[in-house]
Amino acid sequence: MTRVGAIPPPRRPGAYRLGFVCLGNICRSPMADTVMRARVDEAGLSGHVVVDSCGTGGWHVGEAMDHRAASSLLAAGYDPSGHRGQQLDDGWFETHDLLLAMDRSNLEGLGGRGERVHLFRDHDPVGTGGEVPDPYYGGEQGFEEVLAMVERTCASLVDALQCTPGLR
Ligand code: 4NP
Repeated sequence: MTRVGAIPPPRRPGAYRLGFVCLGNICRSPMADTVMRARVDEAGLSGHVVVDSCGTGGWHVGEAMDHRAASSLLAAGYDPSGHRGQQLDDGWFETHDLLLAMDRSNLEGLGGRGERVHLFRDHDPVGTGGEVPDPYYGGEQGFEEVLAMVERTCASLVDALQCTPGLR
């Protein structure tokens, strides 16, 4: 079992690669991706940490984020416009230092927990080990809840990255 907050060491010198994984890559993982990029910039880690996201399913490859996810990000001061959907493939396990699954079913899609595969909320200081619920079929409120989980969990991931030797 992974210690809360601990992240694996980089595979190789250079940038640390973080990937967020959900089902469709239009709601939860793009929200985490967008917020994490902003936090990485603020922390002065641009160029040292590379962030992206994908879905285990391929229905939304090439598409922009869900409009409700984009609206909640915009309202909170983030820029969701750059997102385009991607699908997980075997290459992600080679290129990424850490893959973070938004829920348990996404974690299963990644083959389960491992040194470089965690549940996103393993790093959430509130409700550690929980899931980020899929907001796709619900209302706006679901997206606000996802954003709150994502903001505090990304802050704790930045703390962990700042403690990672060799990142600066
Ligand atoms: P996400 O939400 O996994 O948070 O991006 C979903 C988006 C689309 C679908 C399911 C979940 N879908 O079935 O198309």
